[in-house]
Amino acid sequence: MNSNNILTMNDLSVNDIMKILHDAMLFSNSQKDWQLSKSRLVANLFFEPSTRTHYAFLSAQHQLGCKAVNFMEETSSVKKGESLYDTVKTFEMLGYEAVVIRHPQDQYFQQLQGVHIPIINAGDGCGNHPSQCLLDLLTIYQEFQTFQNINLFIVGDIKHSRVAHSLIETLQRLGGNVRLGGPKEWVDQEELYMDIDQGVAWADAVMMLRIQRERHTTITHQKKEDYLQMYGLTQERVQKMKPHAIILHPAPVNRGVEIEDCLVEHEKSRIFKQMENGVLIRKALFKKIFQEEF
Ligand code: NCD
Repeated sequence: MNSNNILTMNDLSVNDIMKILHDAMLFSNSQKDWQLSKSRLVANLFFEPSTRTHYAFLSAQHQLGCKAVNFMEETSSVKKGESLYDTVKTFEMLGYEAVVIRHPQDQYFQQLQGVHIPIINAGDGCGNHPSQCLLDLLTIYQEFQTFQNINLFIVGDIKHSRVAHSLIETLQRLGGNVRLGGPKEWVDQEELYMDIDQGVAWADAVMMLRIQRERHTTITHQKKEDYLQMYGLTQERVQKMKPHAIILHPAPVNRGVEIEDCLVEHEKSRIFKQMENGVLIRKALFKKIFQEEF
């Protein structure tokens, strides 16, 4: 495997993380038009639906001067029974210099030991989502200029959320505090559980999550109005937030389910800012894997 792979947040030290965040901030200021020293051929392999992640990677690739292609599962030899390993190895042999992969299987990358080009994980099942984690961290850092003692309250379907799994571990490593809320059966780290009304008042950042119905084995029958009242972010709950506290959501947002419609663009919300940061972070990741400096 390539030593520049970015598969989980554990592949990155605290120094690596801070360097990526600083590079991303330079991309939004003095290095807006910076490009890679040569045009790299890269491929995006998405085996699950995606809007933000896929097109943020693509935007970053275009801005950096890469030649990017998008793999189409439906019209590929995967439909003829080809394995993930053989598919990715094919891209390597065709001259692609890096691949971005999203796949429904947890830790799909364990099968890719024999691939030598860098792989950026754009989400594995319920496991990891490092580029999302970094853009969430960037959004928090821009707001507070530190992670020390920052209180993050993540609410919703934690168990099935690779976003939450990557962020919980990493923010704690950076000196922040994490508490989790929502239906208890969806919180896999019980010791971090906090009641929703207590959590919103405690937090510097409240991150709401979508219910990942596609990963549920049993159907959730709860009506969306009941979910919003019990576990969602409502205007009433926003009143309880600290004056400086912000609202985050990795999106896609299910308006009126986990968050009241009018809060998506509330003054406390950084939801669209997160998307903008997603391009900056992915530019910083390509700069890192191709080992280039400004
Ligand atoms: C998340 C994902 O795919 O894990 N979305 C994203 O990447 N921005 C969250 C989700 O699908 O709910």
